[in-house]
Amino acid sequence: MARIICVANQKGGVGKTTTAVNLAAGIAKAGLRTLLVDLDPQCNGASSLGCQPALRHPLVEMRPLRESIVETAVKDLHLLPGSRNFHDVDHLANAEARETDLVRHHLQRGLAAYDYVLIDCPPSLGALTQTALAASTEVLMPIQCEYFAMEGLTQMIHVIRGVMRQEESRLEFGGILLTMFDPGLELTHEVDGEVREFFGEIVFDTVIPRDVAVAEAPSHGQSVLDYAPRSRGTRAYLELCMEVLERV
Ligand SMILES: Nc1ncnc2c1ncn2[C@@H]1O[C@H](COP(=O)(O)OP(=O)(O)OP(=O)(O)O)[C@@H](O)[C@H]1O
Ligand SMILES: [Mg+2]
Repeated sequence: MARIICVANQKGGVGKTTTAVNLAAGIAKAGLRTLLVDLDPQCNGASSLGCQPALRHPLVEMRPLRESIVETAVKDLHLLPGSRNFHDVDHLANAEARETDLVRHHLQRGLAAYDYVLIDCPPSLGALTQTALAASTEVLMPIQCEYFAMEGLTQMIHVIRGVMRQEESRLEFGGILLTMFDPGLELTHEVDGEVREFFGEIVFDTVIPRDVAVAEAPSHGQSVLDYAPRSRGTRAYLELCMEVLERV
């Protein structure tokens, strides 16, 4: 059965998409069949891999997902693109519980062919993120090493626990990842200390450094692993892959 990893944090710009894309690329390069699900209407996940968003949202159309899944330039990495279609996004974001259930089942049914699935969530705790959490086996939360890093986390954890209590839910805490780590900054070490004290061992040993190669890669439609194989960002994401693969 696939491990379905939901990359979520309601805060914007903390490295969700970057982590989902590079982790997916790294796991695929380890020879595991991997799917990246772009669930964010911004569609940054799709464009980071040089792919186009869909005209209609695959989860609204309810066609078999394999008809919407595309191959990427990375071997063994497939993509379910999202859509910016306003009506579809609005429809998904305002879905009633019963319909959210349908979407979740539809999503889960389409994932059986994969070893690993990574879901890139929008920066919100709305219906899309909750559907993603309900369909997942674990949640990975990137936290940016900045002043307000921990703000809003209690809300996020409340939502995660709510999903965990749902019947049929297989969701577990997958891990907390520190991103945009800058060892030269005192603040980075403060956030690192605080997060590790609060969350304990679910925080990954690996931290993702701030690295310009990581920020440049999406504009070339590539993961950082392909764009700058020797960069610090690539080393960090490969290390993270190892940690994720080991945590079964
Ligand atoms: N390790 C890093 N080093 C340098 N820049 C980074 C790093 N990680 C992410 N970035 C840059 O920071 C910005 C935000 O990252 P990203 O898009 O992954 O965040 P996000 O949480 O998905 O944002 P949103 O909430 O809008 O979906 C992007 O421009 C990205 O290229
Ligand atoms: Mg994003």
